[in-house]
Amino acid sequence: MTDDVLVVHGGTPLEGRIRVRGAKNLVSKAMVAALLGDSPSRLFDVPKIRDVEVVRGLLGLHGVKVTDGGEDGELVFDPANVESASTDQINVHAGSSRIPILFCGPLLHRLGHAFIPDLGGCHIGPRPIDFHLQALREFGATVEKTPEGLHLSAPNGLHGTKFALPYPSVGATEQVLLTAVMAEGVTELRNAAVEPEIIDLICILQKMGAIIKVHTDRVIEIQGVPKLHGYTHRPIPDRIEAASWAAAALATRGHVEVLGAQQADMMTFLNIFRSVGGEYEVTDARPPKLGDPGQEGGIRFWHPGGELHAVALETDVHPGFMTDWQQPLVVALTQARGLSIVHETVYEQRLGYTEALNSMGANIQVYRDCLGGTPCRFGRRNFKHSAVIAGPSKLHAADLVIPDLRAGFSHLIAALAAEGTSRVYGVDLINRGYEDFEAKLADLGAHVERP
Ligand code: EPZ
Repeated sequence: MTDDVLVVHGGTPLEGRIRVRGAKNLVSKAMVAALLGDSPSRLFDVPKIRDVEVVRGLLGLHGVKVTDGGEDGELVFDPANVESASTDQINVHAGSSRIPILFCGPLLHRLGHAFIPDLGGCHIGPRPIDFHLQALREFGATVEKTPEGLHLSAPNGLHGTKFALPYPSVGATEQVLLTAVMAEGVTELRNAAVEPEIIDLICILQKMGAIIKVHTDRVIEIQGVPKLHGYTHRPIPDRIEAASWAAAALATRGHVEVLGAQQADMMTFLNIFRSVGGEYEVTDARPPKLGDPGQEGGIRFWHPGGELHAVALETDVHPGFMTDWQQPLVVALTQARGLSIVHETVYEQRLGYTEALNSMGANIQVYRDCLGGTPCRFGRRNFKHSAVIAGPSKLHAADLVIPDLRAGFSHLIAALAAEGTSRVYGVDLINRGYEDFEAKLADLGAHVERP
């Protein structure tokens, strides 16, 4: 057990309004993209989270000057003096995030070589990088794996290629985009991921001068250009954080308005939220004009009273139900009447956190079979990747240890929904992806304290 603990006095509905800023899973990649420009880039609404700090540190080591802009959350990146960093310096960031793998293409373009430390990120299964390395080799990079990390070089430059991903991986799609934009010739990527964060990254690259076509059926075509310039961009808001607070409102029988939440990026979540019995109202943004201060858009989520209903859902790549929405929502599903089924098809080991919920009184069984939907690639591989949640269950307080980011937030929600006082250990992990979550909890009337 660590000292990093939050004491949560549960049983009080979360009520109030919070704001989400730029999506963690876009902002960190946008920061890497700044390396490709030959002039400064400007990114707004950057949340103060650990992943941003890691990427900022790595950019700094490679000679990119990162400064705070005039607006709160604005970062300015000046790539005028990109340079090599020593493996020792880079290794300080080993194990802290998965974003460093995306430095490969940009560093190969700018320096002709790259060193990537051991990756970190959430412990939700093996999380291989074989697609990334295969793609980089297709572009002409040589990759040497050593105990300290990966050494890459591109002795003959990087060249466009035709490549099909075995699975629409978000990171591997981003790897291909960040490499292909300045590779010589045309790249065709098949079976690409098309998450809103990827489309937003494409918007950034296009602003920088890239030529990228998104065709139907997950095909992306990139025509390499010899140089790119800096960008100015306001990223899409964090739809995972928004859904996490929505799930917290539902599980605690509360009412939370999430400013910044965008309906278009959350449609699949909203459908499930409504099927479970939660209610929401979308407020469209209105720009200020004479005599009208305007209005910030967002979504209000609430528990309407009465019983919640069991649902069956399957996590999937976009436009499916995001794997990162799964853990927070399952806490609310413990309060729904009947048997809910969750089939996790993106990660093979993302249901371990349900043990902690069971220790609080939930009734969740996990299965190796593909339950409630289409068979997935984990079906015959012995992974417990389907869950059946029987509800409603009265949750009671417990001592919990946070295993990873999203599961951590689900533990927190469970503690807030439970009767009594829980101690949640390892809460600093939540700072990797949720900006100021303790201040937001306070704004929502949660009774939490650091001992
Ligand atoms: C991104 O991870 C997100 N992380 C994850 O969010 C998110 O859960 C995931 O996409 C899916 O939406 C960031 O954007 C930083 P993948 P990524 O490559 O890119 C397999 C969070 O909590 N795979 O789409 O690493 C892989 O094992 C995090 O914010 C390979 O087999 O995910 C997984 O089963 C957690 N080989 C599946 O593909 C590879 O080379 C999807 O992974 C790459 C991936």
